[in-house]
Amino acid sequence: MHTTVPDDTLPLLARPYGLLSAQARRLDTDVYDTRLLFRKTTCMTGADAARVFYDPDRFVRDGAAPRRLRLTLFGEGGVQGLDGRRHAARKRMFMSLMTPEARDGLRDLVARTWRERIGEWRDERQVVLFDEVGEVLCRAVCAWTGVPLAARQVPQITRMLDALIEAPAAVGPRYLRGRAARKLADRWAAAHVTRARERVERGTALGEIASYRDTDGNLLPPDVAGVELLNVLRPTVAVARFVVFAAMALHGNPEWRHRLAMDDDPELLEAFVQEVRRFYPFFPLVAARAVRDFDWRGHRFPKGRRVLLDLHGTNHDPRLWERPEQFRPERFIGREPDAYNLIPQGGGDHYEGHRCAGEWITKDVMKVAVTALTRWMSYSVPAQDLSIHPWRAPAIPRSRFVITQVAER
Ligand code: HEM
Repeated sequence: MHTTVPDDTLPLLARPYGLLSAQARRLDTDVYDTRLLFRKTTCMTGADAARVFYDPDRFVRDGAAPRRLRLTLFGEGGVQGLDGRRHAARKRMFMSLMTPEARDGLRDLVARTWRERIGEWRDERQVVLFDEVGEVLCRAVCAWTGVPLAARQVPQITRMLDALIEAPAAVGPRYLRGRAARKLADRWAAAHVTRARERVERGTALGEIASYRDTDGNLLPPDVAGVELLNVLRPTVAVARFVVFAAMALHGNPEWRHRLAMDDDPELLEAFVQEVRRFYPFFPLVAARAVRDFDWRGHRFPKGRRVLLDLHGTNHDPRLWERPEQFRPERFIGREPDAYNLIPQGGGDHYEGHRCAGEWITKDVMKVAVTALTRWMSYSVPAQDLSIHPWRAPAIPRSRFVITQVAER
């Protein structure tokens, strides 16, 4: 199966979240070929496709990510581009940072920092939630990882980290800002690694990353260890996007706001957070490369072929989700998603494959935020433009969610 257009790059930039699943539906298939940047590319959507995509006997990551992603979002030499033994060892290091005690530590830091900020938001005429939550998370995650950060540096470092996420799917100034931010961030993070090595710091994420030895027994070069440090800091700050989506969902579903405010039930909170992650757009897709020739569903995958897995489309696949275009946290009450149907942060196994190392942290932070928004503070939501550009990935509402009349509950 093949699309009829000569190249899908511009259509994908214009419609990053909807294109893959729309084309798959039109062609009545879960797998089809197209061209991106004039290179043959195979697109896959759905839970069965995810199961195949995360099979390491069929796909690898080395050389899969386009250059613009490495120059902005990922950096060079990090875990995202590794395979086999080297990936497994590096991934174990990331997962060792995610123990229940460590996660509690980050959750407490986020909660404390958020509570302190409520007092300051009270005195402000209006608060742009996305910007403020980004700073709360930046402060908390730097403290958690052991990266010293003076209060006056917080806005600048938050913006630097966010620029890395904004850039890969952007053209023009936003892309160039991301390139510049990557250079700055790499230097900044490598300097923290070098400093941590001089002091032989252990017991923090920075200490663990700085002292991690690769499969050859050597420390990582400081710039690569810096990339891995940024692989913790950058996405934790990015959870601010899910927090803004949670705030939008509370605003648009007052019955859920009421339920969560009145009922301190972990199952309700879990269901709400899962539905926010399923429903709202974040990363549209992930890329891999076929490691050998094989067929799946009668479709030929030649060795070396770049393959894209449709994350957002799978989270909205009507075969997996009843009325996928409706926000309905109830769907998660009494239902655990499996490793391949709810994939906003990738699919498969956290330890064995490339599934997001920070998925539990993401949910922890979102739960603190939803609790804060429903139980710790009251606020008004003035009229504003909450629409989301269809071409902007990762997505964010135009107003970045403005609140006023903040008060402590
Ligand atoms: C903002 C919410 C987040 C989203 C939407 C997200 C999404 C993703 C996605 C789509 C992947 C790629 C999966 C794949 O390649 O198959 C990924 C990988 C990764 N994420 Fe996240 N992530 C988030 C938060 C976090 C957090 C909080 C951390 C760390 C504290 C983190 C660390 C990582 C790492 C290290 C990888 C690479 C894993 C590997 O290649 O083995 N992420 N994430």
